[in-house]
Amino acid sequence: MLALLTELRDRARTVLRPEVWEYYEAGSGDEVTLGEAEAAWRDFRLRPRVLRDVSGVDVATSLLGTRLRSPFVVAPMAFHALATPDGECATVRGAGDAGCLTVVSTRASRPLEDVAAAASGPWWFQAYLMRDRGLTEALVRRAAAAGAGAVVLTVDTPHVGRKQRVAGVRIDVPDDEYLVNLARHLVLGAVGRESAEQDPSMTPDVVARLAEVGGLPVVVKGVLRGDEALRCVEAGAAGVVVSTHGGRQLDRALPSAHALADVVAAVAGRVPVLVDGGIRSGTDALVALGLGADAVLVGRPVLWALAAGGAAAVTSVLEELAGDLRHVLALAGATSPADLDPGTVVARPRP
Ligand SMILES: Cc1cc2nc3c(=O)[nH]c(=O)nc-3n(C[C@H](O)[C@H](O)[C@H](O)COP(=O)(O)O)c2cc1C
Repeated sequence: MLALLTELRDRARTVLRPEVWEYYEAGSGDEVTLGEAEAAWRDFRLRPRVLRDVSGVDVATSLLGTRLRSPFVVAPMAFHALATPDGECATVRGAGDAGCLTVVSTRASRPLEDVAAAASGPWWFQAYLMRDRGLTEALVRRAAAAGAGAVVLTVDTPHVGRKQRVAGVRIDVPDDEYLVNLARHLVLGAVGRESAEQDPSMTPDVVARLAEVGGLPVVVKGVLRGDEALRCVEAGAAGVVVSTHGGRQLDRALPSAHALADVVAAVAGRVPVLVDGGIRSGTDALVALGLGADAVLVGRPVLWALAAGGAAAVTSVLEELAGDLRHVLALAGATSPADLDPGTVVARPRP
């Protein structure tokens, strides 16, 4: 993990309310998947190329037609206002200033329109299919109208994973904040929190439906198998995100680092493949990109940054990661992620 991230993590731990810190850090079940996420990127070794001119390294990338200064993307996460008063408005400003894309969660704690107005860079909207499907569709329409570039449909959450660490712990999120983006769409008299729960009956047709509703590409988040990724692509997905939801859904799910190659092989370049879970340095990202990912999402480090130093710290984290990636790409003999050859990353030889 980069030193800056360790520093921000330590600072966040001291400034956040203990129950918020635990909510951000928690994983589901026995936290096996959470515990393996970071280490799994270290199960690979690199075979650098030499005698190549790496005096200029460029990590700029393009995702669904949007040009980005680096392949680091802010992962969708709930309730940024628990970390900083401006919530997601600070996140999109900080990420935009680093030339990065932010994915804004359905459970964002600031109105989408305010987030859009604060954005200094591109943003996508993360959707959950909720029991009241009209609610999801209304949000997707609003996100599209506000300027979202894509919808990220999270599919690993038919139910919210049980997090024993925070079981019974109440975080005081006032209802108007919990439902800040949903409240206006709720039918009078409906029990808000229930209509906004995930719909466990979701099937692949939802991908095309949301694409039609928003007029935006739909990227599916939360796949760990090549065959499943292919099903998503066949259902119309414009991209897939290999993810264990930060170890917060199915515990003992394969770490993203180990699931990535299978997905890349199955998708075979038809759509971009993104990945997240435990990415904490340029070298972690180098492994992911070398295995065929087009971009990497970063979750908790952004929350640490928000808590420790608001938007400016988010910019610093993303710039530091991009700088580190440039550095290790050069050491690996590549001038850009696209210049990495398939032989660069190998599984660590077993002793
Ligand atoms: C506090 C927290 C809230 C999250 N909320 C969401 C969410 O609302 N939607 C979603 O698709 N993923 C959510 N995630 C998962 C992240 O998008 C991402 O997959 C994960 O955090 C990446 O792993 P990392 O934190 O190790 O970088 C959340 C993760 C955390 C830590």
